[in-house]
Amino acid sequence: MTTQSGFVFLVLACTTANLFAIASAVKDNNLTVVHVMNSLPKSSPYPLKIQCKSKNMQVRHGEEVLKVGDDYRWTVEKNEIYYCQAVWFRFFASWHAFQPQRDLSNETVYWLIKDNGFFHSWDNSSWVRKETWQTE
Ligand SMILES: *[C@@H]1O[C@H](CO)[C@@H](O)[C@H](O)[C@H]1NC(C)=O
Ligand SMILES: *[C@@H]1O[C@H](CO)[C@@H](O)[C@H](O)[C@H]1NC(C)=O
Ligand SMILES: *[C@@H]1O[C@H](CO)[C@@H](O)[C@H](O)[C@H]1NC(C)=O
Repeated sequence: MTTQSGFVFLVLACTTANLFAIASAVKDNNLTVVHVMNSLPKSSPYPLKIQCKSKNMQVRHGEEVLKVGDDYRWTVEKNEIYYCQAVWFRFFASWHAFQPQRDLSNETVYWLIKDNGFFHSWDNSSWVRKETWQTE
């Protein structure tokens, strides 16, 4: 194989692999979108740092700092648990942002991060607290 046809082959192989990955993700879960919104008090002087991943996927580009009102969102690409870690002042938490058994049939999963915990919703209006902040 010449270098050039090798390159073309590689590009085609990658594109095909991506198409398969996207098709199976759509089939698995219709691409659930997860929103994590920073609803901490506006007066909080401390940054909220967040990082989400699954066994196989790194969400966005690792750790991000969210301002109050920011919406950190991503599309679930594998039907597996995605968990997030958050750090705020001397508090930290880790929770399941996407759980196949719980969330698979929903198009959207919403989270509110507040000073009293982590609230889950499927419709961005009725909320259930699933996790609280921890300290050392
Ligand atoms: C995905 O969407 C299709 C078409 O709307 C629907 O029939 C199917 O039940 C959905 N699958 C899941 C796992 O929700
Ligand atoms: C989300 O999924 C749950 C459990 O399957 C279902 O009861 C609920 O109606 C769904 N909510 C929305 C907004 O799709
Ligand atoms: C969720 O609801 C809030 C308050 O009504 C609104 O500001 C926000 O845009 C909504 N988020 C999404 C992703 O729809």
